[in-house]
Amino acid sequence: MTTNKTRIALFCSGSGSNFKALFEAIRNKQLPAEIVLCLSNRARSGAMEFAEQNGIATEHITEKQFGSFDEFAEKMVDRLKEHKIDIILLAGYMRKVPDAVVAAFPERMLNIHPALLPKFGGEGMYGIHVHTAVLEAGETETGATVHFVNEEYDKGEILLQRTVPVLPDDTPETLAARVLACEHALYPDALEKLLTLQRS
Ligand code: GAR
Repeated sequence: MTTNKTRIALFCSGSGSNFKALFEAIRNKQLPAEIVLCLSNRARSGAMEFAEQNGIATEHITEKQFGSFDEFAEKMVDRLKEHKIDIILLAGYMRKVPDAVVAAFPERMLNIHPALLPKFGGEGMYGIHVHTAVLEAGETETGATVHFVNEEYDKGEILLQRTVPVLPDDTPETLAARVLACEHALYPDALEKLLTLQRS
């Protein structure tokens, strides 16, 4: 019997809480998809450990392992093809994805960003820096965005966005925690939307 499940690669650098949320949601929502690979620029991380504990293949791949950036990009595409990846989800991947990889997955790569893009995006805007900037700007609401990945940081078409309030006594850390909780529901919903778009 053929299963016809969409094969997903997660790209992660850190704790991987979005990875875990997606893994659980695919099971709970019975989405026609399967996470088959965790690719990381870090050999050890919460995300890589979670993958190993759940029988998901891992690839530790960094530019430093290769003679040139082009070779690194080429090998990354090769590994994704070897694993027969259909879509890529960036979840706290703190590296720019090489253009050759973006080109190999047109409309098939998503990223989650912890703010309401196009605000508070771009190079250097990641993790706690985003929440610090939101507070410094005096925003009363922020949120999370799932968008398609193109060659520019945080500039691809927005697929789904959700807001959360900024509270008067927020610190970057309390705000980060509220946004992260929002991300854990938003990313699975965005994945479901992408799967529906692809299968319609
Ligand atoms: C998430 O908040 C994600 O939005 C952010 O990194 C965190 C990763 O957490 N990504 C960026 O800032 C990318 N610009 P996780 O490893 O627990 O999923």
